[in-house]
Amino acid sequence: MQLDPEDEQILAGEQGETRQKMLELLVALGKVFGAERLIPIRSAQVSGASYKTIGKYGLDWLTSLDAKAVVPAVLNPIGMPRGRWREMGIDPDFAKKQQAVVAAYERLGIRLECTCTPYYLHETRYGDHLAWSESSAVSYANSVIGARTNREGGPSALAAALVGKTPCYGLHLAKNRKPQLVIEVHADSSRWTIADFGALGYHVGKFVGNRVPFFRGIRPDPDQLKALGAAMAATGAVALYHVEGITPESQRISYDISGLNVIPVEMTEISCLFKEIPVDAVAVGCPHCSPAELAEIARLLSGKVVTKPLYVFAAQGVIDKNKSSAAAIEKSGAKVYADTCMVVSPAMEQYPSIMVNSGKALAYVPNMCGGKARIGTIADCIRVATE
Ligand code: F3S
Repeated sequence: MQLDPEDEQILAGEQGETRQKMLELLVALGKVFGAERLIPIRSAQVSGASYKTIGKYGLDWLTSLDAKAVVPAVLNPIGMPRGRWREMGIDPDFAKKQQAVVAAYERLGIRLECTCTPYYLHETRYGDHLAWSESSAVSYANSVIGARTNREGGPSALAAALVGKTPCYGLHLAKNRKPQLVIEVHADSSRWTIADFGALGYHVGKFVGNRVPFFRGIRPDPDQLKALGAAMAATGAVALYHVEGITPESQRISYDISGLNVIPVEMTEISCLFKEIPVDAVAVGCPHCSPAELAEIARLLSGKVVTKPLYVFAAQGVIDKNKSSAAAIEKSGAKVYADTCMVVSPAMEQYPSIMVNSGKALAYVPNMCGGKARIGTIADCIRVATE
């Protein structure tokens, strides 16, 4: 792998042991995947942030590091809202350990925005090279924005943040961004909601694996694209997809899809996922809510009072810019929490059954929270939480 003089200095330990170890990690990764060089990145997004997922060994490793991020770097959701953890019922011992994880990341210069939707807070542009690790954020960056990132692990994203570069392989290269199969949706999707696209992603992710699908027959908006990609990254390992005439690369690049395998998807394969089981709590915001989603939830809750716990998750920066929507939601008794989500917070484990509007949460809640999950539209979620 070609390294420039600054890389050689770092590898020689002239910028400290942590940066040396981090670059060694990136070079080793690059060699495994055949990268010829490192490329500078515009930003990093670092997962491995909830104490629930990284535990004591992860915390010990983080506290052993000593360097500062050299590019903008954002932390993934943690196990609790930093300011309102008591209100969410978080165990004080867990809170103490989670605070130690947050302090370790802060010392490394990672911004404590704690979100899987950093693209709402910081400009990310077509063609930018990134090192992001949360799978839905990776999917959104590659597919909806047209930026370029592999699906990094937490350590490799952190290493890239501390060095400012990532190995150039995989989705950083145009040749690996071409469609590999066509998904033809045989349904009238003109009235589909975010949940319908989440359910489509849940279904398609199961057989697409880590290939690059090219969708025909759908016209999702950005929030619906967010739901589609997040779900495919959860039931499969899809890090990039294209939608004919909608996503930026499908508009700018004439991909030849003529020889590709075409897989039809029928409405019944989607609608069968909407099973009506009793639920104990409702959670919306996986991935974290956009301003439009917050406004929609506020509108649906107007004049209503919740009868079941209703959690809404969004980035603090998005909540701060949409205070009237957040206030209107909380007026009903629902909670709008930043920094965390229904999957990474241990507080959600108390509910045997949770209703969501997300294909990704439908896939993750049973494994990560130990309960059942039901998917419905945002309107259905609000109806169930207030009936
Ligand atoms: Fe984000 Fe948590 Fe869902 S990290 S994508 S809200 S599982």
